[in-house]
Amino acid sequence: MEGVQNRMESDMDRFGAQGATEYDARISTLVPGYTVLHEVSAAVLHARLPEHARVLVVGAGTGAEILALAQKRPDWRFTALDTSADMLAMASQKCAAKGIHQVDFFHGLVADLPMSEPYDAVLCLLVMHFISGVREKQAFLCSIARHTKMGAPLLLCDLMQGDDTERAAMAEYAVAHGLPEQFTAALKQRLSHEFFVLTELEWVDLATQSGFRQPLSYFRALGFAAYICLRT
Ligand SMILES: C[S@@+](CC[C@H](N)C(=O)[O-])C[C@H]1O[C@@H](n2cnc3c(N)ncnc32)[C@H](O)[C@@H]1O
Repeated sequence: MEGVQNRMESDMDRFGAQGATEYDARISTLVPGYTVLHEVSAAVLHARLPEHARVLVVGAGTGAEILALAQKRPDWRFTALDTSADMLAMASQKCAAKGIHQVDFFHGLVADLPMSEPYDAVLCLLVMHFISGVREKQAFLCSIARHTKMGAPLLLCDLMQGDDTERAAMAEYAVAHGLPEQFTAALKQRLSHEFFVLTELEWVDLATQSGFRQPLSYFRALGFAAYICLRT
């Protein structure tokens, strides 16, 4: 419980009021292919899901997943879950501005989300790498599995373990996309201290031990990799 509390407090610093306001301007500098990741994830779900699908977005942030999905599918319903009320408030404002009203917002952890009919799909983009410890990550994925229909997809993107050359390339990318050069050392420091990364093999093992099967890679840009897997 103390671990969860600490995690929510450190996320409040990163994704609190100021972090939420600045998030959209900085995220595509720091995550190579951020917009493409959302476009590809939306394409994957648009190709798979039926009419009137219900989609859970874990770590919905400022709403990028919902904006990418909802405009084409006004018949789908979304639950936007996040541990930061400030990030959710931004998502809510952006959805309202785009006339997207089929969204329920939930502030808290997946473990606290009331059980309802399981979802037709779950998205969890750029979230799980903030959870420290393999057991904690497994508990997180198992909570997601409890809310996922049998056979339904989970799309998950995380920073994966990488070497110094790859991290240097990520810093180069960030500078080329607007990060002031003097912040590159701080960025590399954050990548190694604030993210709790797995190798891709460890990730696949973890997913298969947490209620999902057949993880398949559908996106990769430097250290960030996205997988689709199906609820067993
Ligand atoms: C890097 S942002 C990603 C937001 C969004 N998915 C995107 O692609 O822009 C990570 C988000 O996950 C949220 N978060 C962190 N840990 C979480 C957890 N355990 N459960 C739910 N949300 C979490 C943060 O508050 C933040 O809004």
